[in-house]
Amino acid sequence: MLQLISKKNRLTDGQKSFGYGAFAAIGVFLNFERVNVMKVAVMGFGVVGSGVAELLKKNAPVIKENTGADLEVKRILDIRDFPDSEFAPLLTKDFCDIENDDEIEVVVETMGGLNPAFDFVSRCLKKKKHVVSSNKELVAQKGFELLKLAEENNVNFLFEASVGGGIPIIRPISRCLAGNRIDSIAGILNGTTNFIMTKMIMERTEFSDALSLAQKLGYAEKDPTADVEGLDACRKICILSSLAFGRHVYPNEVHTEGISKITLDDVEDADRFGYVIKLIAQAKKLENGKIYALVSPALVKKESMLAGVSDVFNACLVRGDMTGDILLYGKGAGASATASAVVGDIIDCADNREKRKVFGWKESVPGLIEDYRKVPVSLFVRIEGSKAEKEKVLSLLNPEKIFENSEKNEISFITDTEPEEELQKKLSLGGFKVLSSIRVTDY
Ligand code: HSE
Repeated sequence: MLQLISKKNRLTDGQKSFGYGAFAAIGVFLNFERVNVMKVAVMGFGVVGSGVAELLKKNAPVIKENTGADLEVKRILDIRDFPDSEFAPLLTKDFCDIENDDEIEVVVETMGGLNPAFDFVSRCLKKKKHVVSSNKELVAQKGFELLKLAEENNVNFLFEASVGGGIPIIRPISRCLAGNRIDSIAGILNGTTNFIMTKMIMERTEFSDALSLAQKLGYAEKDPTADVEGLDACRKICILSSLAFGRHVYPNEVHTEGISKITLDDVEDADRFGYVIKLIAQAKKLENGKIYALVSPALVKKESMLAGVSDVFNACLVRGDMTGDILLYGKGAGASATASAVVGDIIDCADNREKRKVFGWKESVPGLIEDYRKVPVSLFVRIEGSKAEKEKVLSLLNPEKIFENSEKNEISFITDTEPEEELQKKLSLGGFKVLSSIRVTDY
């Protein structure tokens, strides 16, 4: 079948409109329906990449009817062989087959990791191809550089799927809420840890057993460090804060704690005070203009919208000065949900084929991120000690509510709000054993 190809950025605007008009007219005259098909390449044929290829194949007519975008996968890059795949004829192991193919206008990057993704994405942008990525590590580390490269080449670099899987988060923050000053964001951005915490809260399953179950069900990786120690959630909150506050927030600047030290005793005592424990990724714009960004286990009030987010689901609470609190909720991972977000971005590229959409953030500046220890917080604390030792800690911190576990010689309480370093100083005075200290959120 004859296909008429858009050659964006190689013609002047006048030539382009004349060209498209002429193509369309010929198409109508000859009754060709696909006058403006947009060719797509996918780099990385794993869970998400294969989901994108399948979604485009299955839903291309619906997408065309709903949006006018006529999309077709032309090439798929992967170093592995997939002889039984229906997409086998499109597979290549050579990146140059995509880089040097002028028909390909949009490249989807679903490879994950920094290398070779950064090199390949940079080269595609330099070749004036739009790039859509689901790669949170790439965006969190290299987002500013790639957005700048996209701007210089008048193409789009979009990454809706990099945070929250199928949940629309990037577009709502950058467009729908653009009339707000965003004050804060708090998210349950990692499905694996949310599944583990849900098992601990609802079924009182020990952490290690809940983790094994998450691995058995295919949620957690064999090496679950990035999920369990909060690194995955850190990358995601970096992307959201960069977008919400306008400057790149790098992962190494965000204090990150995981859930591996949370015990069932913490879960039970938090419950007594009316809270659940979740892995919360948060970012706030402080009055001094700095950003407070943090990933850590945190106590969330049982009535909070975030407390009801269970299993592998993700949610992101955005607090805008005009809207108040908004909760975006849904599947944070999985082939079809994530592919849906990728395809939304491809459609956006089709809508902004000729003129890059205004989107992104500026480079970081020194002092952008506040030292988390200076920010006032309230802590949930669990202490073990003798009667005198417990009295000592209570006189130092003077909490309003205390729970005494006489069987275990422990007390737990929630402190007033003070700069975290002041609270930690008091807790380090000794004479008692601090079993846990976990932040309490106000979401
Ligand atoms: N490992 C991630 C999670 C996958 O558990 O949420 C989605 O980024």
